Order: sequence, then C-alpha cells, then structure tokens
Amino acid sequence: MTEAIMKGRGLTKRFGSVTALNGTDFDLYPGEVLAVIGDNGAGKSSLIKCFAGAHPPDDGQMWVAGEEVSFKSTQDAREHGVETVFQTLAVSPALDIATNLFLGREVRKKGFMGTFFRQLDKKGMRRMAEQYLEDLGISTLQDITQAVETLSGGQRQAVAVARAAAFGSKVIILDEPTAALGVRESGKVLDLVKDLKNRGLSVVLISHNMPQVYEVADRIHVQRLGVRAAVVTPDTASMNDSVGIMTGAITVPQEEQQLSAS
Ligand SMILES: Nc1ncnc2c1ncn2[C@@H]1O[C@H](COP(=O)(O)OP(=O)(O)O)[C@@H](O)[C@H]1O
Ligand SMILES: [Mg+2]
Repeated sequence: MTEAIMKGRGLTKRFGSVTALNGTDFDLYPGEVLAVIGDNGAGKSSLIKCFAGAHPPDDGQMWVAGEEVSFKSTQDAREHGVETVFQTLAVSPALDIATNLFLGREVRKKGFMGTFFRQLDKKGMRRMAEQYLEDLGISTLQDITQAVETLSGGQRQAVAVARAAAFGSKVIILDEPTAALGVRESGKVLDLVKDLKNRGLSVVLISHNMPQVYEVADRIHVQRLGVRAAVVTPDTASMNDSVGIMTGAITVPQEEQQLSAS
C-alpha cells in the first residue's frame, strides 16, 4: 500500500457550539486527484483549512509526506509543499497578474540593489509569471501587467490556480474553484487540474458539481456531518450512490469506508 502524501486522523474543529469537524479522517495519495464532496456545512472547507495552515484543528493528527505536521500558518503549509486556493479567492484585484502570482514571495533583484535596497526584480517576476501561465496553457492571459480586476471570473481563478501550481511542490488544494464560473471557464480549470496531475502533483478538489467530479477524480471523499462518510471511486459508485452517501440516504459501515482506497 502506497503511503499517503497527506493524511489526517481524528481531526476535530469546533467554532463555539458548532462542530465543523467531528473526528474526521483524510487520505490523499501521491499523484491522484481526490474530490471532496458533501452538503453545505459538511466541513469540507474546515477540513482543508487544517491542511492549508489556515486554522489548526482542536484535536487529531496530520501528516504530509510521512512527517507529522502541526501547521500554525499558511506559510508553514507552503513550506511543506501544500498550496491552497481558498473558496474565497485571495487575489488582490488592483494588482497586476505578475504581482499577484508573487504576492508574499517577491523576488528581489540580484546583488546589492536587491539585498541592500530590497528592490524587486519586476522584469524577472513578469518573465517567470508568463512562463508559468504558458506552461499551464492559459493563453487567454496575454498581458501580464493587466490588473486582476479587469479579468473575468475564470481568468482570476486561473491566476489563483497558476499561483498555487507554480509554488506547490506536493499538493494543490482547490476549494470549489468552479462554483462561480461558466461552462467554458470551468472546463479550463478542470484542464488545469488534469495538467497538475500529469505533472505528478496530488490534487484535492472540493466541488459539488457531480459531472465535474466524475470527470477528473480518481477517488471521492464524501464528507457528511463533519466526518468522512465514505471514500468511493467513480467507476464503482454512480453519481446517485455518491449523492446518496452525501445526503445520508445510503450509509456505509465504518469498516468498509476505505475499501476502495489503494
Ligand atoms: N470561521 C467560522 N466561524 C464559525 N463557524 C464556522 C466557521 N467556519 C465554518 N463554520 C461552520 O462550520 C460548519 C462547517 O463549515 P464548512 O467547513 O465551511 O463547510 P462546507 O465547506 O462543507 O460547506 C458550518 O456549520 C459553518 O457554519
Ligand atoms: Mg466550503
């Protein structure tokens, strides 16, 4: 059995009287696309925020690449190769695409001007940004100096995904990346997901769009009432089965939960 690249056991998260995560488990394997599905409030975002370093769990354990981790910040998670595109997009609309890509990890000029005067290597960042976007096949973004507020929803999402893809070395987490997008733009984001997988990265895709999930996922983690209700694969469980588990119409015994996991 392959070792999980990202693993959680007994993760619990409470917000006052609300229990968002109730001792949930999680397994992501190397090179796979794992979809996380579940009703609103099932704890999907709370779950991935633990791994993203956005908030620590109240209880439970997490591992990345076999190492037990307790992330205190998103920077901690990034340093372990985990990049997240949050449900509420964290791009800065007024800044240009290149600046957005390098937000929080700007590249300094080489030599004295960079180390002493902390001058930014803007040309270098633009060149790298162009390369990333080209690598990701986002050809619609020609002008890297364009402000992000002038972009469409899909293009903004693409910038956010490109940023994650450019810096994530192990895991890319996408929280409902297509929720606000049209069909064509969603298609682009799904292509990016496939591309990330082809490049050997592991992807967590939160979505409740079943056709999209079935198009790209290798396995599906079904989150319900703060726990993992089941893990299924698209070829062994129909969309109806998955939705049934999601809503509680179908229950999967705890010991069979992981039958389909490799
Ligand atoms: N920052 C927060 N403060 C208070 N309650 C929260 C917070 N984040 C999430 N919750 C609650 O935790 C539960 C799970 O939320 P969430 O993880 O966002 O679910 P999902 O992403 O599956 O829709 C919900 O009841 C939600 O209202
Ligand atoms: Mg959510």
